[in-house]
Order: sequence, then structure tokens, then C-alpha cells
Amino acid sequence: SGMITIDPGYKNTGSCESAITFLDGEKGILRYRGYSIEELAEKAEFLEVAYLLIFGHLPNKEELERFHNDIKAESHVDEEMKKILDGFPKSAHPMGVLSSLTSALVAFNPGSVNVSSEKDMYWAIVKILAKFPVLVAWTLRKKKGLPLDYGDDSLGYVENIHKMMFKKPNHKYETNKIVIDALDKLLILHADHEQNCSTSTVRIVGSSHAGLYASLSAGISALWGPLHGGANQAVLEMLEAIEADGGDTKKYMAKAKDKNDPFRLMGFGHRVYKNFDPRAKIIKVAAEEVLADLGIDDPILEIAKGLAKEALEDKYFVDRKLYPNVDFYSGIIYRALGIPTEMFTVMFALGRLPGWIAQWREMRLKSEPIGRPRQVYTGEKQRPFVCLENR
Ligand code: CMC
Repeated sequence: SGMITIDPGYKNTGSCESAITFLDGEKGILRYRGYSIEELAEKAEFLEVAYLLIFGHLPNKEELERFHNDIKAESHVDEEMKKILDGFPKSAHPMGVLSSLTSALVAFNPGSVNVSSEKDMYWAIVKILAKFPVLVAWTLRKKKGLPLDYGDDSLGYVENIHKMMFKKPNHKYETNKIVIDALDKLLILHADHEQNCSTSTVRIVGSSHAGLYASLSAGISALWGPLHGGANQAVLEMLEAIEADGGDTKKYMAKAKDKNDPFRLMGFGHRVYKNFDPRAKIIKVAAEEVLADLGIDDPILEIAKGLAKEALEDKYFVDRKLYPNVDFYSGIIYRALGIPTEMFTVMFALGRLPGWIAQWREMRLKSEPIGRPRQVYTGEKQRPFVCLENR
């Protein structure tokens, strides 16, 4: 009732109170439950961060072990789900496949929908943290023509994900600490980012009391877009295009500034950060370290660094406070780890899963009302119906 203020893109509208993630876009600060992202990326493991985001405190050894054991006990997916995966062409984009499979999980876990107690919620959460990595691995393996496998309970959460994705039949699975640590760090840096497009989607779908998995499936769809999580794939494709074009970064800078050209510098700019995205800072250093440690000399890293340097000195980008965001350097690491470009946004989803869950849980525990924005009507005034023969 009364005056309705319109705020396209909700640039200035708060949708909730939240105690999960603190973000100061002017200063470039990001904290999960009060802990700085720099410290968590350096010292914590992804599963600890997941627990922290969802339950609000860092787990002690016993809590973490119980959580991990519960996840291991649920890390199987109904075999019928393979038939659904089977129906997709190999060329299907993994994000579309995963949002469908996540939605399909509801049918096989109907108890996850009407969560009337914290215990019900806990098991819905444990199950998706256990099963989503299996679906991710299956999606990649189908693309590669590899048999669909299950995980290995003896491994850590992240190493197990890596093994499920990459193990080849009749080959001993081998990885190294550099790869797993890099993956762990990237997942932590993506784990939550307050009320972004996909998280707001999860909360608003969940606010109708659709179940957790339906809400997550919607979140995955929201993340897919190139203005959001899909930017990491778009960045790498852009860098490859620049490389193929002889490394002419100036040409692409000019395109990005040209208001008649829809091209944007992918991986640049952010709704909230008007200063360095703290995640991009960490990922840039990590990309250099991982490539050096793995002995990879990737010309794309040089192109990215050159592009960033030019943009940071350019009046257009400076005036608009456009800095590299989380997606700018992450693909360079994924590529070094052998992850196909089409899977980059899936890696983002894997990382963001605990954040989406934490936000959904917070919303449900606070019994927030259904999300239902208003509008200002600008259409026709009332007019009489015209019969088909008279039109
Ligand atoms: N390249 C060129 N110009 C840009 C860019 C860019 N990447 N980003 C913003 N601008 C310009 C925009 O044209 C506008 O200029 P003007 O004031 O002259 O009209 C001004 O900067 C403000 O941009 P906006 O589109 O009003 O800002 P927004 O808050 O609505 O959009 C954004 C934020 C992230 C969608 C946008 O910066 C963008 O499209 N970036 C490229 C895609 C990208 O990297 N997305 C990942 C975001 S970070 C993490 C995630 O969500 O995955």
C-alpha cells in the first residue's frame, strides 16, 4: 500500500537481514561469519568453511568428522538418475544438465522437501553436499565418455571430488597437493557472496517453501548467465579469442568502451565492489603460483595480466570503478588443472553450494515471509474487449 519505489536490479534494496557474509564494496572486504576471506583461503579447508557458513561456527575436530562421515554415508545417487542423465546429448551445457539433475533429486529424496525440524534440514543439507559432487562428476564423465563411478570414502571432500571427476578406468588415480590445494582455495573463495543473483534466487524460491533442491536448481540456473557465474567461462573464451587474434588487447579494450558494441570486458566490474574484488587479488597470486608449481607456461595468463594493467590505467574503467572480479583469473587455474572450459561455472556452483544452503537455512529458520516484489503498472487503461472478427 502507499507509494511503491521501483529499483530495477534491486541496486539499492535490501531483501533481508543476514548474519552470514559481510561485504564492504568500497573497501574491498569480504568475511564469512566474521572471518576474513584471506585467512580462510590460507588456513581452512573447504568442508570446514561449508560448516562455518551453514552452522555459524568453525567446527571442532569431532563436529567436522561427524559432518564428513554423514556426508560419506549419503554419497550415492539413485541409479535411476543415470537414465535421466542418459537422455541429454553429450553436447548439453553442464549447467543445464546439473540444474535438471538437482531438481530431479527431489523425486528420489522426497523427505528433503517438508523440513519441519532442524534435524530434517540437517539431513537435506548433508544429502545434497554428498550427492551434488557425484552429479558434477557424472556430467563431466559423460561428456568425456568415461564410466560413471562413485567416490572414495578414504579421501578428503575435495580430493574425492577431483578423483570422481578425473579417474580413468584401469589407471591408478594420481594427483598432487598443489592441485588439491588450489581447488580447495578456489572453492572457499566462491563459497558465499551475500545477496547476489543466484543466492537471492535460492532464497526467493525457498521462501515459497519449495524444497531445498528445487531452490538450488533455480540458483544453478541463475548462476549460469554470463553476467554472473557464467563470466568465468566467458573470460577464458575472451582471452582465447584475443590470443587467436594476435594478442591485440588494445582492440578489445576499445570494443569494451564502445557504447555501440555490446562487448564487455568479461571478468571486470561488479555491482558491489567499487574497489579491488579481494577474491580476484588472491586468485591472481594463486594462478601465478599454480602455473609455476605445475611448470605450465600459459600465454593466456600474460594476456590477462596485460589486459588488467591496461584497464586499471584507463580513464573509462577508472571513472566507473571497474576492477577485475572473481571470475577474471579463476579460469586460468581451472585450465591449468585440466578442467574443461564448459565446466568452469560448475566449479563455481560446487563452491557456492554451501553459501546457497546457509542462506536458505537462515531464511527458513527465521520464517521469512514469501518473497513477492511489487511493481508500478505502466500498461493500457481499462478498455472493452474486441471480438476476433472485428480486429
Ligand atoms: N566492460 C565494459 N563496461 C562495463 C563493464 C565491463 N565489464 N562493466 C560495467 N561497465 C560499464 C557499463 O557499461 C556502465 O557504463 P555507463 O555508466 O557508461 O552506462 C557502467 O560500467 C556501470 O555498469 P552497470 O552495467 O550499470 O553495472 P551493474 O552493477 O548493473 O553490472 C556487472 C555489474 C558485473 C553485471 C557488470 O560489471 C558486467 O557485466 N561485467 C562483466 C561480466 C562479469 O564479469 N560478471 C561477473 C560478476 S562477479 C561474480 C559473479 O557474479 O559471478
